Amino acid sequence: MKSGRDFDQKKIIGMFDAIAPTYDTTNRLLSFKQDEKWRKDAITRALHWVYAFKGDLQNLRIADVACGTADMLLHLVRHLAQKGSLERIYGIDPSLEMLRLAQEKIARRAQEHATKISLECLEARELKPIESQSLDLITIAYGLRNVLDRRAALGEFSRTLKKGGVLVVLEFMRCDQRGILGTLAHCYTSKILPIFGMLLSRNYKAYAYLPASIEGFISVEELEDELSAVGLEVVEKRHYLYKSASCILAVKNTQGRSCT
Ligand SMILES: C[S@@+](CC[C@H](N)C(=O)[O-])C[C@H]1O[C@@H](n2cnc3c(N)ncnc32)[C@H](O)[C@@H]1O
Repeated sequence: MKSGRDFDQKKIIGMFDAIAPTYDTTNRLLSFKQDEKWRKDAITRALHWVYAFKGDLQNLRIADVACGTADMLLHLVRHLAQKGSLERIYGIDPSLEMLRLAQEKIARRAQEHATKISLECLEARELKPIESQSLDLITIAYGLRNVLDRRAALGEFSRTLKKGGVLVVLEFMRCDQRGILGTLAHCYTSKILPIFGMLLSRNYKAYAYLPASIEGFISVEELEDELSAVGLEVVEKRHYLYKSASCILAVKNTQGRSCT
């Protein structure tokens, strides 16, 4: 089997272009809607930390990186419409097909907030249009695994976050010690889910890539070290479904050690 590192970045983005039309349905069916639950939990926790450092949730500037069809972005918009306010939210993704679907979903579900939403066709490693130290929150859900130049991307996250700004990574991290239930859950995500994914999307390569990319990815502890190297300090870690997925929350340190 190929490892995640055997795929090149262009091909990975091309795979997401190809599976974009079936992405949402496949996700919901195969995760029994758990993907939604974990996204919402990650947002609640992230906003808790934003509040802790900023003191309120008003006029937030946010980037949802690897935004795909805008699920995370739309949860954030809805949440802040009730419990705070948005100045701007960027949806960043290099897949034009994903962004096209994101645009359609925003038009259907959040038309009244559309002027505050900017979709940008970009990779995580180069967030040029976003000014340094301008963001209160960056979210990246099920996306970091696909970013091959992770070091550059984490550097960009550190550059664009304000001091005290929050990064939340929701991801299927590599885990070497899972226990029995964890092994069963991992078996589902790495063996069974790709088979159904292939059948639903009719795209063998994209769903063979999923388990390969998890195996080739880093562990939570390794990510913690990489974050620390760019001045992002992990403040909370949550694991879901016996460590099948993890949510890592980090804050740009306020002591001045950063990439900017
Ligand atoms: C599994 S989807 C996740 C989408 C969305 N965040 C969600 O929660 O459903 C992964 C996304 O990562 C994007 N992606 C792939 N390579 C990327 C890169 N180098 N930088 C940023 N995003 C990337 C893909 O286009 C795809 O939309």
